[in-house]
Amino acid sequence: MAQVLRGENWLPIRPGFDVLYHYRNFYNQPKGGAPGLTGLISDHGEKWKRLRSLVNPIIMHPDNIKLYDEPIGEVAKDLVQRIKDLRDREGMITENFDYLMYLWALESVSVVALGRRLNTFNENLESDSVARRLITLIHEFFAISEDIDIKPSLWRYYPTPAFKRAMKVFSEIDSITRSLVLKAKDELSQRGHSDDDKKGVLEKLLEVDEKIALIMAGDLLFTGVDTVANTMSCVLYLLASHPEKQITLRQEVNSGDEKKYFLKACIKESLRVMPVAGGNIRQCTKEYNLLGYEIPKDMFVVFPHQYLSKMESQYPRANEFIPERWLVDKDHPLYHGNAHPFAYNPFGFGARICIGRRIAELELESLLSKIIQNFELEWRGLPPTMYQSSLNYFKGPFNFVFKDIK
Ligand code: HEM
Repeated sequence: MAQVLRGENWLPIRPGFDVLYHYRNFYNQPKGGAPGLTGLISDHGEKWKRLRSLVNPIIMHPDNIKLYDEPIGEVAKDLVQRIKDLRDREGMITENFDYLMYLWALESVSVVALGRRLNTFNENLESDSVARRLITLIHEFFAISEDIDIKPSLWRYYPTPAFKRAMKVFSEIDSITRSLVLKAKDELSQRGHSDDDKKGVLEKLLEVDEKIALIMAGDLLFTGVDTVANTMSCVLYLLASHPEKQITLRQEVNSGDEKKYFLKACIKESLRVMPVAGGNIRQCTKEYNLLGYEIPKDMFVVFPHQYLSKMESQYPRANEFIPERWLVDKDHPLYHGNAHPFAYNPFGFGARICIGRRIAELELESLLSKIIQNFELEWRGLPPTMYQSSLNYFKGPFNFVFKDIK
């Protein structure tokens, strides 16, 4: 595994999203226009490298992400209030808790990708509002992608109904993001540009190129909602079923200590036990000999992280939620560093590693600290079911109990 990931790290090909590539490269090109960049998730080779080198310093730089501490914190605060409002007498939200998580993730990533909030927690939101449309469209994007990118499909030979639907979904997402990005651009030109150290991701991307800002807005929305929302549900579930870990976490959060080691360890451990991305994939650009198996060029190699990170040989008491394993010293039997370095890769690897990792961590840390400060979490009844497709989805029942801290 390490051999292929390292061997393919110069121009890594991660197959998938061919329909999106088709849409952006052909379908949506003006007639006679030269096909250009299509995006980080759909481009490969030199085109991907060019785009990634342009956007990496903007989206991955810790100073740029730090600018979002406050606005992402505001979103988290509003969600806590929404949980308080929606709880029943028992402190439960059994209906549509997953939808609430999607709204929070969309609201948070919009602050970065679209430079604004969408007001998704507003209970009077119309069904045709931008926020509701976007959530529906993003889910459809994943469903369609699974149907025609992963399962066998004839769309490459003739426009199947699913293919036509995909083109409609992509066009609609494009037109929503375009209008919001252009609105942000207008607002920026009216109020003047910010000082360099205050410029957010969208402002910096617009400075590079409007087309790149548009492509990235779409990519960040596609990738930044289902991933974070389901991770949050898993972390909450694991903490709700481990009250003793909640106490440690609450003490740390309330201590005001900036470091937040235990908070980070809870998120890391949750991504080990219940990772939202079950695996990763690379297409080989050369031949490999892996433990005596000949792997020909162009073959897809799959890295099943969700199994590797739960191997007893790598992580003792592998199925247990033990955030402390990320904090103990080298001589402790649970020390995480005893595992193979490729056994835990929830955000992927190398040059193609998740570009939204820092944004995701900020969102998760921000909401988790606020929830733990406000509520004692409990879980009633049977464990949740997980639905495995291109991502691992946390399906109901949503048996969380949110009790006010006394
Ligand atoms: C807990 C949350 C998340 C997890 C576990 C996750 C995981 C991943 C993984 C495994 C990959 C593939 C990396 C590889 O091929 O080596 C990836 C790619 C990517 N992720 Fe995330 N992700 C998360 C959240 C986000 C967020 C919030 C955003 C955007 C704001 C985002 C944007 C992207 C993009 C654009 C790519 C493609 C990068 C490229 O190919 O250059 N992700 N993510």
